[in-house]
Amino acid sequence: MPLNVEKARQETPGCTNVLHFNNAGSSLPSQPVLDTTIAYLQLEAQIGGYEAAERSHEQIEHTYDAAAQLVSCTRDEIALIENATRAWDMAFYSIPFKRGDRILTAMSEYVSNYIAYLQIARKTGAVVEPIPDDQYGQVSIEALRHMIDERVKLISITHVPTSGGLVNPVAEIGKVAREAGILYLVDACQSVGQMPINVNEIGCDMLSTTGRKYLRGPRGTGFLYVRKEVIERLEPPMLDLHAATWVARDRYEIRSDARRFENWEKNYAGIIGLGQAIDYALEWDLHTIWRRIKDLAYQLRTRLSPLPGVIVHDRGITQCGIVTFTVEGKDPETIKQLLAEQKIHVTVARVSSTRLDMENRGLTSIVRASVHYYNTEDEVERFCTQIERLA
Ligand SMILES: Cc1ncc(COP(=O)(O)O)c(C=O)c1O
Repeated sequence: MPLNVEKARQETPGCTNVLHFNNAGSSLPSQPVLDTTIAYLQLEAQIGGYEAAERSHEQIEHTYDAAAQLVSCTRDEIALIENATRAWDMAFYSIPFKRGDRILTAMSEYVSNYIAYLQIARKTGAVVEPIPDDQYGQVSIEALRHMIDERVKLISITHVPTSGGLVNPVAEIGKVAREAGILYLVDACQSVGQMPINVNEIGCDMLSTTGRKYLRGPRGTGFLYVRKEVIERLEPPMLDLHAATWVARDRYEIRSDARRFENWEKNYAGIIGLGQAIDYALEWDLHTIWRRIKDLAYQLRTRLSPLPGVIVHDRGITQCGIVTFTVEGKDPETIKQLLAEQKIHVTVARVSSTRLDMENRGLTSIVRASVHYYNTEDEVERFCTQIERLA
């Protein structure tokens, strides 16, 4: 069934104001998410924060069920964390690295993850090694197989990089990780909400994501999945009274579920809004959403590519809703500003966000236009007409 775009737009108040192609930055939230989040803030104002959380216990707990359903795991394997970076950090920094351990990652790895690898490498003597790309620009499975040995402690891959339409073959990578019994961490910040995600099909041990991007949830929300069998092997880098219990003067016990990666104080309005956003995405059906996004992105690339002076930079066999391009003689930041004057939203991806990949391709900055299912074919046309004029 095709997605009912008219309904999606009626339920997205921002659609009447702007042409929003910055969904990989932060999507326009739906009316139900907005209503739920505001209603919770009002309840807090009326009866107090702790009392509101008690009264809304079921709604808060529902977000764990919704996240679990979204990625096909159990609620005990979900930790609600304030963004994708911290969620990823809590998994990564829980791994006990030692000198000589190898961390295998992708060329298009996200900046914050790579900084964490470099920090751990400096502190422990572990080494970080990017897996070469294949001819399509995605992680080469063949190269990965050749890199496997008993020193590989972690395979850590960004599913969809921040700087392009690439979708890395995470399930094929997962097969290699499983065969070799190596821990496998996936940064799914740009893919959750955009396409169906099943942690069992991917074969990962840990997966992190954010609320505000393709899930259309409130800012300051995110979650981490950790496979049950792995949870107790991972000691979080920080603990508090929520992650652990102080059971005797000189002893504490860490929780046995994924909530050991959380901290106590939370943005409950955001969490309830995130639960609503996940329910909303599931109602549309992730297969339907994914099909629609791919179609729109395909239309956008096909319209942009022949324009004189315009170069589309996306790579990969499967390409997602993130479309990147440059216009000859025009600085990407200037394009972003000029579009913004027309209430058209894009962003600029810079070399510092995915340094290995962008340097290899000789790119310093590119325009990033990211579509969602509530965008329209007409918007793509309007967008391309503006780019044509600028070019
Ligand atoms: C691939 C990827 N990972 C992680 C992040 C960080 O997400 P957050 O800002 O929610 O921490 C981003 C943000 O752009 C991203 O694109």
